[in-house]
Formats: sequence, structure tokens, C-alpha cells
Amino acid sequence: MLQDAQIALGRQLLDYIDTRSTAMAPDLYLQPVDEYVSHATAAREQQRLFRALPMCVGMSGLLAQPGSFQTHDVSGLPLLLTRNEQGRVQAFLNVCRHRGARVAEQCGKARALVCPYHAWSYDMNGKLKVRPADGAFDGAPHESLGLTPLATAERDGLIWVMPRAQDSLDLDTHLGALNAELASFKLAGFHHYETRTLTRRMNWKLLLDTFLESYHFCVLHRDSICSIFYDNLGAFDHWGPHFRLVSPRKSIEEIRGEQAPRWNLMPHIVSIYVLFPNTVLVWQLDHIELWQIHPGATPDESITLLSLYTPEPAHSEAARRHWNKNMDLVVHVVENEDFPVGEGIQRGFHSGAQDSILFGRNEPGLIHFHRSVSAALGA
Ligand code: FES
Ligand SMILES: [Fe+2]
Repeated sequence: MLQDAQIALGRQLLDYIDTRSTAMAPDLYLQPVDEYVSHATAAREQQRLFRALPMCVGMSGLLAQPGSFQTHDVSGLPLLLTRNEQGRVQAFLNVCRHRGARVAEQCGKARALVCPYHAWSYDMNGKLKVRPADGAFDGAPHESLGLTPLATAERDGLIWVMPRAQDSLDLDTHLGALNAELASFKLAGFHHYETRTLTRRMNWKLLLDTFLESYHFCVLHRDSICSIFYDNLGAFDHWGPHFRLVSPRKSIEEIRGEQAPRWNLMPHIVSIYVLFPNTVLVWQLDHIELWQIHPGATPDESITLLSLYTPEPAHSEAARRHWNKNMDLVVHVVENEDFPVGEGIQRGFHSGAQDSILFGRNEPGLIHFHRSVSAALGA
């Protein structure tokens, strides 16, 4: 994080601790229940959020080497990401131009991707190279039958794709002033450790809501993370629809004895960035959790990729034990504590108990997120 931001945040958080307060929105907010269950809303979200905005598909470490490839299906689009021999990341639709089979599965390293159906083969730039019985396709030139490319960018360690083939990608406009803050994390140097897929009977926004307040820390998480963090206490800042929530660890007390210009806040906070609409990037002590949260087949379902990126490659057994422990802890907390409550909420939405739920002034992240969704949907 930028040093100026760390100093400002450090002062803010110590003040919240001293005054037993937290970031507050000006007003409380009524969030319509319908937006979590409506098929019409889900269809509008697909169109205006999930197909129209740049989509973060991972960090650079996902495609560590030239020649590596990775499939990505969580958005409902069959994506194929590659890093070519020159190191450039590109994205394609994972759809063979012969009769539409998937050209690649999972991930790996290759010089060419050979379709499993009739062996048309494509290079890492998506160009059609070899076609068995080539003469049978006279009149359909190779040049016109490359994999369908999508606009792609790799910036400051994050990989972005435009979901619609006709759209161009403008990250300057999309991220705005958040660019500088993201660059300060030097994410390009991180290594992909593991990705897990979490499917839940919760609307994607409800799953994302899990991250957006610390009001529940010492109630729902009294036996897990409550002892590490302050309850109902955190900073909130936003850049357009994107925003950051910072919760201090109890260890933040250690910085009180030091001069502010020398503060290193990072070991003492968890910093949550919501990259609108559906990516949550979490700075945890020394590593990154990247959450890609997508709608499922119905408004009551979501599918999420949770990836862990580490500052060093995990070569040793001890390193793997360490990172497995981190991954298991976060999955344990969300799967056993947050998400069961969320699934109960989703079921309750259908009961007719109330038309809206309430976000308190102490939950500014929730308010900002849902206002931003409404604005993007033109509601
Ligand atoms: S569908 Fe790919 S080679 Fe036929
Ligand atoms: Fe939680």
C-alpha cells in the first residue's frame, strides 16, 4: 500500500480504537430483498455487469511461464488464457473453430493446443496452425479460423478480460485512481499457490456481502477470528464503484511507539479491495486471497473461485504446510461460519418476511456496493 495511505489509515484506525468508533455512512440503507431473488435482476446483471465490464480472471502468477495456459469457466463463458513465448497474456474463447469443441482443459504448458475432436491445432496466439485433411477445407483459410480473441490486459499483476468479443478494454477508465494503489502491492511478483471452487446456494451479491462489514466478527466468529481483530471497527474508502475496507488486527498497538513516517501498517491490518463488480482482493499479512464471485444458474446460487497467491514459490514441505494451513483456515471460517448463515438468509428471502433488509451506518461498504450495483443497472 502507498506509504501516505498507510500513515493516514494508521491515524484513522488508532482514532477509531481510542474513540470506540468506526467508519460511518451518512444514513442507513434499505436494500430490497427482491434484488437477491429476481430472475429479471439477474438477467440485467449478466448484461450490464458480467458481460459489459472488465473481468478480473486472476493474477499474473496464474500464467507463470511463457507457453502456459489456463482455462476459466466460472463466468459461464468458456475462456482460455495463454502466455505466449514473448510473455504476452491473451484470452480466447475456448471453442474450436471447426465444430466447437473445447480446445483445452485445466491448465498446463504447451507449444500448441490440439483440439481433442479432429486435431485442429492452435498456437499460443490462437492461430490455427495444422488441420488434418487440410484439402477438404479449401475455401476456409487458416487465417480466418483462429480462436476468437477477447480484449485482454495484464497490469500491475492482475489479468483482465473483456467478456464480449467486440468490446475493447479500458482499464484507465475502469479503475481510475485505484490504479496507483493497486500498483503499490507489486502483485506481479506473487506466485499462484492454489485455487478452490466454492458453490453455494446464495445469490452472488449475498456472498460478496460477507466481506463488507466487521460488525459480525465477534458474534459469528467469536471462536475463530474474534480474538485477532477489533469488532465493528474499520476504515472505508472508495474510488468510484471500487472500494477498500481495512480492519486492524489487535497488533496495531505496536505502531503507537513509532514515528508515523516509519509506520509499516501491513502486518497489522487486513485490507479488502472490492474491484467492482465481483472481485475481492484481500491482503492478509503477507499473501493475497483473490475471490472471483459469480452468479450461478439461478439467482439463488453462486460460484466462486478462491485463489491464494504467495510472496515466494512454495518449494519446501514446510512452506506447503504453512500455506495449506492458511487456505484451510479461510475456507473453514467461510464454509462453516459465514456461508451457512448466508444460505439461511437466502432461504428466508423467499418467506415474505420483509421487502427489504437494513444496512446500518456502521456498514458503509455494504451501502456503497449496493448503491454501485443499482447505479450500474440503471435502477
Ligand atoms: S471440433 Fe475441433 S477439430 Fe473438430
Ligand atoms: Fe465473516
